[in-house]
Amino acid sequence: MSEPRVLRIAMNGITGRMGYRQHLLRSILPIRDQGGITLADGSTVTVEPILIGRNEAKIKELAAKHDVEHHSTDLDAVINDPSVDIVFDASMTSLRHATLSTAIGAGKHIFTEKPTAETLEEAVDLARQARAAGITAGVVHDKLYLPGLIKLRRLVQEGFFGRILSLRGEFGYWVFEGDQQPAQRPSWNYRLADGGSMTTDMYCHWNYVLESIIGTVKTVTSKTATHIPQRWDEHGEAYTADADDAAYGIFDLETPEGDQVIGQINSSWAVRVYRDELVEFQVDGTHGSAVAGLNQCVAQQRAHTPKPVWNPDLPVTESFRDQWSEVPANADLDNGFKAQWEEFLADVVAGREHRFGLLSAARGVQLAELGLRSAAERRTLDIPELTL
Ligand SMILES: NC(=O)c1ccc[n+]([C@@H]2O[C@H](COP(=O)([O-])OP(=O)(O)OC[C@H]3O[C@@H](n4cnc5c(N)ncnc54)[C@H](O)[C@@H]3O)[C@@H](O)[C@H]2O)c1
Repeated sequence: MSEPRVLRIAMNGITGRMGYRQHLLRSILPIRDQGGITLADGSTVTVEPILIGRNEAKIKELAAKHDVEHHSTDLDAVINDPSVDIVFDASMTSLRHATLSTAIGAGKHIFTEKPTAETLEEAVDLARQARAAGITAGVVHDKLYLPGLIKLRRLVQEGFFGRILSLRGEFGYWVFEGDQQPAQRPSWNYRLADGGSMTTDMYCHWNYVLESIIGTVKTVTSKTATHIPQRWDEHGEAYTADADDAAYGIFDLETPEGDQVIGQINSSWAVRVYRDELVEFQVDGTHGSAVAGLNQCVAQQRAHTPKPVWNPDLPVTESFRDQWSEVPANADLDNGFKAQWEEFLADVVAGREHRFGLLSAARGVQLAELGLRSAAERRTLDIPELTL
């Protein structure tokens, strides 16, 4: 049997929340430890991570802990190392355009966290650079690989809903201010100067979710808020939180069949959860409805729809939640980040485009930018079609 091909991956931002937990621990190390992935032609490709970080001691300790042979504090040197195939970036958003431009310039394939840039101009610039360089570029679209959304998408594809009328999303949870209890998210998320903003962070996700499940996002109407104006950082220091920590958005959507759908998504880090999951989407159609979270998806058909009668004088007599049926996975669904990594690695070997690339990411940045503008100008904005 021939030796597996080894893809060397420069991993930047690996000490951060996403880089460490989702990409290193849940994706690349398991892919390495399972002996790589088997491609369609029966051959195997495996991975060799190179951990990159600013703090030598920290990165060395991480490498030793996870039995990773290579690590470095010199990002540029690793990017320019001819034996490196892929550059992965999960560092702060504000640093991304520079890192990815250098990587594309060095002819590397790239896999990156979202958003790909802080401005639409930079996001489009990256997509153009990647196309000109002919590399394979992948952008994390993790929500689409979650079991709940996979099931929801299947229902749409099977025509379960009839004509889709609306989608409502509820995302968020309480992020502690950091004074009494430490915050569970990084402080830069709440500072505009450091690239923080709920809209910047989440609208790029909502764009690909809406686009892949319902259809094209045609307009955005958004209202943002900074509900908590003061927070405490990782060192216990008080700072002014000037970035929006909540975004209330309404979107006009168009399905591939030309139907018009109303989308509405609330995103907030100042909300307490009374839901089954941290994000939930409800889709209502003429023939059925479904509610999907990260894992679960329940549905109710037209024929099973009860007929509630409004009567505030009586207590509720039925359990509405019990009237929905669980949608089965009917498959073994792996961690979403790992599943997308595996697909991306196969695309790199095949020399083809990844289905979620930099143009799709740029549309996400566009939605965030127009969402912020809509909020600032207090009006509905059309979303122009993006081309390269
Ligand atoms: N896909 C998702 O669901 C998801 C969720 C959260 C965050 N993200 C994205 O992932 C990225 C990282 O977010 P996070 O929450 O892990 O942040 P984090 O603050 O936990 O990690 C940031 C990383 O960047 C490094 N870093 C910070 N400042 C730096 C500097 N000046 N120079 C070089 N490196 C620096 C840190 O050491 C760390 O490794 C962001 O772009 C964010 O938008 C994606």
